[in-house]
Amino acid sequence: MTSNPSTSPSDQPLTPITTTPPPPRNDLRYIRYNAAHEDAYVPAMRQLISKDLSEPYSIYVYRYFLYQWGELCFMAMDDSLPDPMVGVVVSKLEPHRGGPLRGYIAMLAVREEYRGRGIATKLARMAIDAMVERDADEIVLETETTNTAAIKLYERLGFLRSKRLHRYYLNGNSAYRLVLYLKEGVGSMRTNVDPYGPPPMPEGLAAPEPALLHENGREW
Ligand SMILES: CC(C)(COP(=O)(O)OP(=O)(O)OC[C@H]1O[C@@H](n2cnc3c(N)ncnc32)[C@H](O)[C@@H]1OP(=O)(O)O)[C@@H](O)C(=O)NCCC(=O)NCCS
Repeated sequence: MTSNPSTSPSDQPLTPITTTPPPPRNDLRYIRYNAAHEDAYVPAMRQLISKDLSEPYSIYVYRYFLYQWGELCFMAMDDSLPDPMVGVVVSKLEPHRGGPLRGYIAMLAVREEYRGRGIATKLARMAIDAMVERDADEIVLETETTNTAAIKLYERLGFLRSKRLHRYYLNGNSAYRLVLYLKEGVGSMRTNVDPYGPPPMPEGLAAPEPALLHENGREW
């Protein structure tokens, strides 16, 4: 290819503008949930989460997680703000059908102006580390198939896509189930199967596992 000698400076290809994300804030305080401050933390959490997640979680959902697994909930606080909570992760950890000790990241949200600075990554890591300390075998979660930021974040942390859940959310959107295996062989660990239940379905068509339901009957 030959270059055009008559090209004026304005015709020259522009150097792409690269936007570098703002550096991680060192002045944020990352803390574990403390039930003694429930009255302040829970409303702040609900406000932060309800803004972005498609599922309308009731207060009972928060209590379900926080009363049993408050030590798996972490928050990022910017103390220069009147409402200091800028990020939160809520999780649980329990045996899955008599099989692996399974962690579950139920909610993760960062205030819009604070995104892209690694806050969610740090919160997710704190939750993962707390589950590892408690001997978790695996960690799972669901995220909308269109949620590029969340998928990128979790895949960078080592999560793999295990299933596509068709029309999983109330808004009709589908989800990916993501899984992080923490120990060798966990992926093939057997779970208890009800001998009187329906026959196992082929991989990829498995029925949703029993879980707490929304008031409207949907899994959350
Ligand atoms: C998903 C969410 C928690 C990420 O928070 P965050 O603090 O911005 O996350 P981080 O900065 O730690 O990392 C986000 C990653 O996604 C990338 N990202 C952010 N927005 C993106 C977008 N629109 N498209 C593609 N990637 C995006 C970031 O660049 C970063 O990846 P990188 O470090 O490789 O560049 C935040 O966007 C949020 O609160 N969303 C609404 C609630 C939600 O969707 N929660 C997840 C439910 S599972």
